[in-house]
Amino acid sequence: MDPHIHVHGSDAVCEIEIRRPETKNALNTSMYAAMAEAIEQAETDATIRVLLLTGQSGFFTSGNDIQDFLKAVDVEPRALLAPLRRFMQALSTARKPVLAAVSGHAIGIGTTMLLHCDLVYASGSAQFSMPFTRLGLCPEFGSSLLLPRLTGYQQAAALLLSGDMFDAQRARELGLVNEISETEQLLALARGKARALAQLPPEAIRLSKKLLKQHLEAALAQRIDEEITVFVERLHSDEARAALAAFMNKSRSRS
Ligand code: COA
Repeated sequence: MDPHIHVHGSDAVCEIEIRRPETKNALNTSMYAAMAEAIEQAETDATIRVLLLTGQSGFFTSGNDIQDFLKAVDVEPRALLAPLRRFMQALSTARKPVLAAVSGHAIGIGTTMLLHCDLVYASGSAQFSMPFTRLGLCPEFGSSLLLPRLTGYQQAAALLLSGDMFDAQRARELGLVNEISETEQLLALARGKARALAQLPPEAIRLSKKLLKQHLEAALAQRIDEEITVFVERLHSDEARAALAAFMNKSRSRS
């Protein structure tokens, strides 16, 4: 298990917690693999009925580790993206309900993964963005399909083309977040909702989730493949190299 991913559970709820505060919970390949494994195991564990994704207090995730994206330019990008793909596959096809508790930043894949969750709770100070174009990249893991369905085309275009940050209130208006709470109460709220779902008849929950999601499965899988093809091309582009290196250089020059 990766030291930055903590998996613990009680009352039939499996919590997957991201803890890498030195990078604001940026996700690297080993963390994606650990998160994928945790979801895969929870799916086959009859004592687990609900999953809850969360970040160490104060952050959800600052998205993919930008250092990893820079490495992907030099090595085989598809190989480097494989653990991320495994995690997103596990998340998007999970049969058990997946909840998320978001405090602090949910950037890039941090916002994208919420589109695949069933219920999302956020602290009032949470901040979201999908800054792909700013990094010379493109939408990933189904966000170009799921976001317009959720928000309507123009709102999705505004978020995905500009990469602008938006707050919890806006996320709630857009339908990305179910409920907002004080930061101190967020985890208790999400855990309470998770436990309540875990007490309902599991087969009824499983079939209801299936009915909600199954009509999109084929289109989603196809879109994810299309996005990955463009994303990998983008990682090699001059635009992406310059933007990713600029972020890391800015960090280094501050330290
Ligand atoms: N990958 C790798 N390192 C990251 C990171 C990421 N996605 N996000 C933050 N970090 C590192 C920074 O390099 C910095 O390292 P340093 O202490 O060695 O300088 C440290 O985490 C703290 O980040 P900092 O930017 O100083 O924190 P902040 O509170 O000012 O801003 C964010 C927080 C999340 C808004 C900002 O870090 C950010 O925009 N991160 C990049 C988000 C992003 O573009 N993700 C990829 C999407 S595809």
